[in-house]
Amino acid sequence: MIKKCMFPVAGYGTRFLPATKSMPKEMLPVVNKPLVQYGVEEALDADLTEICLVTGRGKRAINDFFDISFELEHQIAGTDKEPYLASIRDVIARGKFATTRQSEMKGLGHAILTGELLVGNEPFGVVLADDLCVCEEQGVMAQLVEIYRRTKCSVIAIEEVDEAEVSKFGVIAGVEEEPGLYAVTDMVEKPEAKDAPSNLAIIGRYVLTPYIFEILRHTPPGKNGEVQLTDALLTMAKTSKVLAYKFKGRRFDCGSVDGYVEATNYVYKNIYLQDKFS
Ligand code: G1P
Repeated sequence: MIKKCMFPVAGYGTRFLPATKSMPKEMLPVVNKPLVQYGVEEALDADLTEICLVTGRGKRAINDFFDISFELEHQIAGTDKEPYLASIRDVIARGKFATTRQSEMKGLGHAILTGELLVGNEPFGVVLADDLCVCEEQGVMAQLVEIYRRTKCSVIAIEEVDEAEVSKFGVIAGVEEEPGLYAVTDMVEKPEAKDAPSNLAIIGRYVLTPYIFEILRHTPPGKNGEVQLTDALLTMAKTSKVLAYKFKGRRFDCGSVDGYVEATNYVYKNIYLQDKFS
């Protein structure tokens, strides 16, 4: 059983400066909910109820967000504003939240290793909240958990991207074992188009076995001088098995201004208006 989901949320969000100067990028709202809430809801919907936040300096707003605000509750109780708190009340009731801090920004791999303290020796999910995913039925994390239950292998979510886009992602090569499910044979972090092993890009959803921590401890800094999760996963793929799954749904890159605006328009039209007025 997987119960834990890790959220590395220590990054600076430089692409959204000055908005992110004194506010975590994960708290940027897509319509009326912060990005990190969408990610946590996706984890809870996959029954991953123990939420492990790897935060850093300047991220206190995230901890406060997943705690009750007594003052606000007191002000709003019994008024017609109460429905606005419903979704976050629900998240707080369904999840348990734990935090540790990454004191130096040494890459995603380093962030995951920092979170070992909260996860321990168990398989766990990872959500990068920058990637907002919208699915018709099951969320992406639930799709990955289902594959993990069947295979007991680490699983990463992938999607096809244009060749011009591959340098923004980790990119895999693999052998297709079932429709949309690949056994990974190669992985490169943010390759130039000419060096990319395919156009299958990793998106920010993973289910990992705890063996990843052992590998990360010995993974040297890679692309941009950072400890890359992609490099550690390649080691894992060579010594055991890593699966990559073309998830069903749509992903928005909310780490970029264009993707963020696109997500906002999509959520407003297809989710917010539907819920509000239906
Ligand atoms: C990270 C990973 C990368 C992955 C991407 C998905 O990169 O390192 O492999 O493709 O997330 O969003 P980042 O976007 O944090 O630089």
